[in-house]
Amino acid sequence: MAYLMGIDVGTTGTKTLLINDTGEVVASVTSEYPMHTPRPLWAEQDPEDWWQAAVYSIRQVLQQSGIDAAEIAGIGLTGQMHGMVMLDADGKVLRPCIMWNDQRTAAQCDWIMNTIGHERFLDLTLNRALPGFTAPKIIWTRENEPAVYARAAKVLLPKDYLRYRLTGVYATEVSDASGTVLLDVQHRRWSDEVLSELGIPREWMPDCFESIEVTGEITAEVAELTGLKKGTPVVGGAGDQAASAVGTGVVEPGLVSVTMGTSGVVFAYTETPSRDVEGRLHTFCHAVPNKWHVMGVTLSAGGSFRWFRDTLGLEEKNVAMLSHVDPYVILTSEAQRAPAGSEGLLFLPYLTGERTPYADPDARGAFVGLTLRHDKRHMVRSVLEGVAYSLRDCIELFRDMAIPIQQVRAVGGGARSDVWRQIMADVFGTELVTINVTDSTAYGAALLAGVGSNVYASVPEACAASIRITDRIEPIAANETVYNEYYPVYQTLYHALEPAFSDISATDQGYA
Ligand code: XUL
Repeated sequence: MAYLMGIDVGTTGTKTLLINDTGEVVASVTSEYPMHTPRPLWAEQDPEDWWQAAVYSIRQVLQQSGIDAAEIAGIGLTGQMHGMVMLDADGKVLRPCIMWNDQRTAAQCDWIMNTIGHERFLDLTLNRALPGFTAPKIIWTRENEPAVYARAAKVLLPKDYLRYRLTGVYATEVSDASGTVLLDVQHRRWSDEVLSELGIPREWMPDCFESIEVTGEITAEVAELTGLKKGTPVVGGAGDQAASAVGTGVVEPGLVSVTMGTSGVVFAYTETPSRDVEGRLHTFCHAVPNKWHVMGVTLSAGGSFRWFRDTLGLEEKNVAMLSHVDPYVILTSEAQRAPAGSEGLLFLPYLTGERTPYADPDARGAFVGLTLRHDKRHMVRSVLEGVAYSLRDCIELFRDMAIPIQQVRAVGGGARSDVWRQIMADVFGTELVTINVTDSTAYGAALLAGVGSNVYASVPEACAASIRITDRIEPIAANETVYNEYYPVYQTLYHALEPAFSDISATDQGYA
């Protein structure tokens, strides 16, 4: 039997997942590591932590499964996107990785857009420079850490750093490379224009492959360390969102996924590179060869709910501990005891700034509409609804672009809650389905390895062989009507509060 391995360099840990060629999960191990915030709005990780976590989780997976490593036909890599790993000429890491959720580079984004010109930049990359993306981080390092920049010889994305350690090869693939905003997304190759106008040396960029292509092989040294077999092929893989879309089966027109992790991502497959005129959505290469996708990101989706649990849900946490129940289950059942629309209480989920549709690192969270009548039930429900409204903002942009939406598939931790899934179906006004795959990101990477090692003939064939629909939720008409009335109100709130958000941020930074 052939086995396939997917390795996901995530934000909180690295997951290694092994599946067999009928798509069943044979073993899965996650090893966690910290994220550092040396200053407010900064987010960094030590690439050595990813490496140690990968070695540990690979060894554990091999041990737990008891398979012969020679039966692994291929390995696919995935991970958090946009992070900047800067290496010197000897392949040594020069500084901690500046991560996807780091917001330090607003000034560098402005500089990039002004230097190349807003319209031209959108034409060249199909996107705009946002603080989370990689290119502004390179410029930030040039401006703020010239000694580091002077020694730089390579810039890698997180999963590609792992590839370098596993295979000794500097390589990336088109889906993750799209999120650097240094890629000509339409032609699926580095943009020489953007690189040269920003003064970033072309040779710092690794070779760029399609996601299913073999990029290198496990080295003898790594085989010794992990128990993998020397020569096992490692395919391109994908950024976590494109990999998750593969693991969710979003590989044909009409399919959309909503991933409810710390961030919430709405993702649609497209046959051609289509973009929002204002660049509010990201248009990136898909992991399916010569296909693309659009996506929008709510930075604090599950993150908003986690914040609520950890700050206002302490009582529920205690009850949960004593009764061995998940605190989220208690909180969602409280939410169910408030009516749809939370009797006029609205929540803005911009707890870590926002990306789509408002690319604004200064945006903040807010409860608006509180009255004496409201209690915790309304507050928790309005958090779940506010996240759903924010995801609907992305869906509305797809609708404006005439991207077909025939089926929405919900995945990620937040999608495990029936209550939240029902709220999303009601707010979006669409059916919402769930699938048999739980770790769609690592799973998608394993399927890509299956295509690259000829276990499957194509990405859609790999998905068809392994992914099934397990549940469907239809919108409740009465709730949909309530949400259709509140949604336009929700949309006005960001604009009304935006001046206050930027004043608060300016004042706050003055005190930092
Ligand atoms: C995608 C994005 C996140 C990160 C971390 O654009 O920023 O999905 O990849 O998961």
